[in-house]
Amino acid sequence: MELKSACRMLLFPIQMFYHIVRAGLLSLLPSSKKDLSKEVILITGGGRGIGRHLAKEFAKQGAKKVILWGRTEKCLKETAEEISLSGSECCYFVCDVANREEVYKQAKVVREKVGDVTILVNNAAVVHGKSLMDSDDDALLKTQHINTLGQFWTTKAFLPRMLELQHGHVVCINSILSQSPIPGAIDYCTSKASSLAFMESLTLGLLYCRGVSCTTVLPFHTNTEMFRGMRVRFPQLFPPLKPEIVAQKTVDAVRTDKAFLYLPWTMHALVILKSFMPQVALEEIHRFSGSYTCMNTFKGRT
Ligand SMILES: NC(=O)c1ccc[n+]([C@@H]2O[C@H](COP(=O)([O-])OP(=O)(O)OC[C@H]3O[C@@H](n4cnc5c(N)ncnc54)[C@H](OP(=O)(O)O)[C@@H]3O)[C@@H](O)[C@H]2O)c1
Repeated sequence: MELKSACRMLLFPIQMFYHIVRAGLLSLLPSSKKDLSKEVILITGGGRGIGRHLAKEFAKQGAKKVILWGRTEKCLKETAEEISLSGSECCYFVCDVANREEVYKQAKVVREKVGDVTILVNNAAVVHGKSLMDSDDDALLKTQHINTLGQFWTTKAFLPRMLELQHGHVVCINSILSQSPIPGAIDYCTSKASSLAFMESLTLGLLYCRGVSCTTVLPFHTNTEMFRGMRVRFPQLFPPLKPEIVAQKTVDAVRTDKAFLYLPWTMHALVILKSFMPQVALEEIHRFSGSYTCMNTFKGRT
């Protein structure tokens, strides 16, 4: 082996250690927040649930314009009106993110009518909430089309202009279930794991693109209609998150350029435990927390 490569190999663990310590120390320092006053923010699924709170929070923190996408005009209109009444500029467009042609068409309309989107928030998602054998094939496909592929189309529609402008941010509202799946939501967990890989790949791919970055948020169960009826065994120990808190922490993460955000932060423990614990121990944790059976009472959005 060449002397140069041998030296590089020896230096590698030292460099790794240096970067881990440096990143740890930097994360302790208070970071400055990005100004949102020039940002045009598009939120998919912005009419209700976490998306609605995200729209309100971005507006509250000074965004120039907020654009909502979704399938149900009634809730899009209500949210847009509420935000406009508070004094911020907000508009909406009906768009199904699973429909590639519609995404590209509506993206063009947004560019012409509103301007360049500088922050894209991929939030829209659905859950079918059944086991593989109980699931209808079309429902399984639909979840993948909305939750995963929808993000491909929206990102392809808006990222090129962000790269041209050297200014932009792609945000994904993922889920802790992408890293710790549960039975009874196989469609959802698969789509979220796939979407996490998409975001990890995109984040690294944009590393050398000046001015454009990514944020992926992985929240625990949140109090919206999405998982209506789902019951955890110890709700006092594992209470659902409030959607307004998820929205607030997400906007903070975007403004401080944080790449990955676990909500609550204790979810890091779950991911670390999963990486080294034997399967039998993990199964015991799932049994104790009731995640094996939590989807038995699932009703979902009607
Ligand atoms: N709730 C939780 O426990 C939880 C936990 C972790 C992560 N999350 C994630 O947080 C995000 C928001 O979830 P939520 O709890 O706010 O759920 P939600 O209340 O059911 O809202 C989902 C939103 O997505 C929109 N949507 C669904 N399919 C769409 C499509 N094909 N095209 C465009 N918009 C579509 C819905 O609007 P329309 O139906 O009108 O289109 C709605 O606005 C999702 O990505 C979810 O996976 C939720």
